[in-house]
Amino acid sequence: MIFEVFTLFPEVFEPYLQASILQRASQRNLATVRLHNIRDWTYDKHHITDDEPYGGGGGMVMKPEPVFAAVESVLGSPPSCPVILLTPQGRLFNQKLAYELAAPDKRQVNEARLALICGRYEGVDERIRLHLATDEISIGDFVLTGGELAALIIIDAVVRLIPGVLGDPDGAIDDSHASGLLEYPHYTRPAEFRGWGVPETLLSGDHARIARWRREQALLRTRQRRPDLLARAELSEQDRRFLDGLDEESTI
Ligand SMILES: C[S@@+](CC[C@H](N)C(=O)[O-])C[C@H]1O[C@@H](n2cnc3c(N)ncnc32)[C@H](O)[C@@H]1O
Repeated sequence: MIFEVFTLFPEVFEPYLQASILQRASQRNLATVRLHNIRDWTYDKHHITDDEPYGGGGGMVMKPEPVFAAVESVLGSPPSCPVILLTPQGRLFNQKLAYELAAPDKRQVNEARLALICGRYEGVDERIRLHLATDEISIGDFVLTGGELAALIIIDAVVRLIPGVLGDPDGAIDDSHASGLLEYPHYTRPAEFRGWGVPETLLSGDHARIARWRREQALLRTRQRRPDLLARAELSEQDRRFLDGLDEESTI
């Protein structure tokens, strides 16, 4: 999968992209992140990318010309792939949307391409939103200084869903939000640490029992922390019986 990122600060991406899973995904050609500095598409002496807002008020606004020129020179006109504008006004990013972006067409995941435009200052000229972006995504109800962190978050969440990226092919299946539930708790060695043990079931070697314990912990944890998710989750008869059998105070 190819990510075409349009930004005024390409240097902030490098350290994160060169670590761990994202680096491995890139080395194995499963995900490529191409960074395009919007400033490279300015043709004035001072390479200006922003200007004062019409109508007055504080702050600066990203000019349309360099952003259109950058996107169109890389992706053609009209752009050959979805163009996502990062904005706190967009639809909220979540795991479901990450799955959608990871596999627009499962047969072509290696050829799939996604463009991300990172805003700065007061944001981008409205004509970019109206006539260039095909989608607008927010990573949460708060305002960042720029779209770069938002782009990295989306890239990270999407790349780990691309088949072959995680060492364990089922690694993402149980993740929180993948199935509509929060994930069960994890433990690793030592079996006892400062007097705190590990649930006996996890040491039993009984895979069916462990699977059931994990499912029940996921149900319990979701009920406790995110009842809104539980109301929408796909539950089996066994899940429902377990939840019905809990009393109000049951916690993990
Ligand atoms: C300071 S913000 C501009 C916010 C804008 N004035 C508003 O109130 O909608 C600058 C840039 O950061 C990015 N950004 C800020 N918060 C974001 C969020 N929650 N999700 C995605 N991008 C965000 C956008 O690209 C935005 O253009």
